[in-house]
Amino acid sequence: MPPSSTASACARPTSTTILQEAQKHWLCLVATDGAFSMDGDIVPPQICHLASRYGALVFVDECHATGFLGLTVQGTDELLGVMGQVTIISSTLGKALRGASGGYTTGPGPLPYLFSNSLPPAVGCASKALDLLMESNTIVQSMAAKTQWFFPVTWEAQVGGYSEP
Ligand SMILES: Cc1ncc(COP(=O)(O)O)c(C=O)c1O
Repeated sequence: MPPSSTASACARPTSTTILQEAQKHWLCLVATDGAFSMDGDIVPPQICHLASRYGALVFVDECHATGFLGLTVQGTDELLGVMGQVTIISSTLGKALRGASGGYTTGPGPLPYLFSNSLPPAVGCASKALDLLMESNTIVQSMAAKTQWFFPVTWEAQVGGYSEP
């Protein structure tokens, strides 16, 4: 390794120095994958202890872990015995659960979903249609009224307009 690379490798800050430096900010967030895709490495559980020492929140991206890790497959935090110490968990369902669509972000309040693996628009439409139907029966009543009006009119038009060849 050339001397310059060795020097810059030595100068790399440790996670402790980064967290110390971050203390001047109003929010500290330690963000990590739960399981890393290339070698299947799992994040060390000490990350939660380190974060809490510096008042930092922990964010775990579970894209490569969802549906696989933990005794009851609740994820990396369950596997590592740190459930309740992770503030934000985010995942897509198209990686570990190969081919599934959508994803989620969980946290102490509403949070944006971060990734591009969104639900197909048709699923969103179906979900909204069901919401509207559950909210009130106005649409159903309106459709029934239109059917009552429309059916005799079209029937009349068909019968009236029909002529034997
Ligand atoms: C760990 C991890 N999180 C999130 C993403 C982004 O997922 P998407 O492609 O659904 O935006 C990737 C993409 O490779 C990833 O490896």
